[in-house]
Amino acid sequence: MGGRCTDLPPSGITSHPGSVGPAAGGRLSAVEFSEVLRRRRMVRDYDPDRPVPAEVRERLLAHALRAPSAGFSQGWAFLVLETAGERDAFWAATTGAGAPDGWLTRMRRAPLLVVPFSDKSAYLDRYAEPDKGWTDRDEDRWPVPYWDVDTGMASLLVLLTAVDEGLGACFFGVPPERVAALREAFGVPARFRPVGCVSVGYPGTEDKRSPSLKRGRRGVDEVVHRGRWGATGAH
Ligand SMILES: Cc1cc2nc3c(=O)[nH]c(=O)nc-3n(C[C@H](O)[C@H](O)[C@H](O)COP(=O)(O)O)c2cc1C
Repeated sequence: MGGRCTDLPPSGITSHPGSVGPAAGGRLSAVEFSEVLRRRRMVRDYDPDRPVPAEVRERLLAHALRAPSAGFSQGWAFLVLETAGERDAFWAATTGAGAPDGWLTRMRRAPLLVVPFSDKSAYLDRYAEPDKGWTDRDEDRWPVPYWDVDTGMASLLVLLTAVDEGLGACFFGVPPERVAALREAFGVPARFRPVGCVSVGYPGTEDKRSPSLKRGRRGVDEVVHRGRWGATGAH
C-alpha cells in the first residue's frame, strides 16, 4: 500500500531546551521518559502567534503511527488542520452558535488541530483474513472496540510527543450530534469516527486547569488489585 512509512523522520526527541541529552544510540533514557510523563497535562490556552513548526508537526504524526494496534490493523486516520480557515471550519462544525465561552476562546487559539478518526471496518476486514478467521464480521466477537482503543493510544502518543517538543496539547471530545457536520465540512467518509480532537501549540498565558483535577489522582493502592480483588474491591 503506497504511503505507508516504516521509518520515523529524524528524531528531535531530545532536542528541545531543558531536555537531558540523548543516551547512546539516540534512545530516550528512562529518566527523560519519566519527565515527559510527569509533565504531561492538558493545556487549554495557546500562543496564537507561534505556529507549530512543520518538522515538529510531522513528528507528532509519525509518532502517532507507532501506536500498537490489534492485528496491526492500523485502522486510524488523522485530519490535520492548520490554516485559520481550516480551524474555523472545525470549530464551526463542532461547537454551537453564539459567543464562545472562555474555554472555546482559549482553545481556538491553538494553531494546530489533529482529529484522530477510528475505522471499524479496517478491523472487521483485517480479522476476516485467514490468520484471524472471523469471516462473519460479527461485532460481538470484540471484547471492546479495538478501533477506538488503538486510535486512543495513537492520540496519547501525540500528547506525549507534544510534551517532548515543549508544546502544549489537549485531547477533547467531539459531541456526537456534531460528528455528521464535522464529516461534511471536511469530506470525511462515513466509516470514520472521530474519537476526539487534539489541539496543539505553544502554551498561552491564560491556561486554566480543569476543575475535574480537584478530584485528585487516584492512588496505586486504590486501583491496583494484587493477586485477587481484595479489600479494595469496593472501589
Ligand atoms: C476521553 C477524554 C475526553 C476528554 N474530553 C475533554 C473535553 O471535552 N474538554 C476538556 O477540556 N478536557 C477533556 N479531557 C481532558 C481531561 O479533563 C483531563 O485529561 C483530566 O482532567 C486530567 O487532567 P490532565 O490530563 O491535565 O492530567 C478529556 C480527556 C480524555 C482522556
